Amino acid sequence: MLWDKSLETGIAAIDEQHKELFRQIDNLLDAGRENRFGETLDFLGKYIVKHFTDEQKMHTTSKYPRATEHKNYHDAYVTLFNGLKNKYTKEGPTLTNKMAINKSVVGWLKDHILVHDKEFATYYSQSKA
Ligand SMILES: [Fe+2]
Repeated sequence: MLWDKSLETGIAAIDEQHKELFRQIDNLLDAGRENRFGETLDFLGKYIVKHFTDEQKMHTTSKYPRATEHKNYHDAYVTLFNGLKNKYTKEGPTLTNKMAINKSVVGWLKDHILVHDKEFATYYSQSKA
């Protein structure tokens, strides 16, 4: 499992979705061996959008001052992900494509959670106090 406790934000709804995201990425790594990589990429792409939308709703309802900036990060990730997905669809499961997807998808997400989602979690817990 790629998820670990250091990624916990303390907001249960967000943490559950993050765990599911990493489960899907685990599937993606396995799917590479089973030739279901394309299918799993499709699912992951949809789940990412759903997750970001849910997070952004929380930003809006809690009047998070950095909501726009945070949404820009999400949008950039969706663009990056779709670019890699298209490249994969066109060129197939080359080692380069798989490595690029694994590295970018996992690396970006971890950095994003550790910095930006945790920043929101701090704001969120203080705004409720
Ligand atoms: Fe986020």
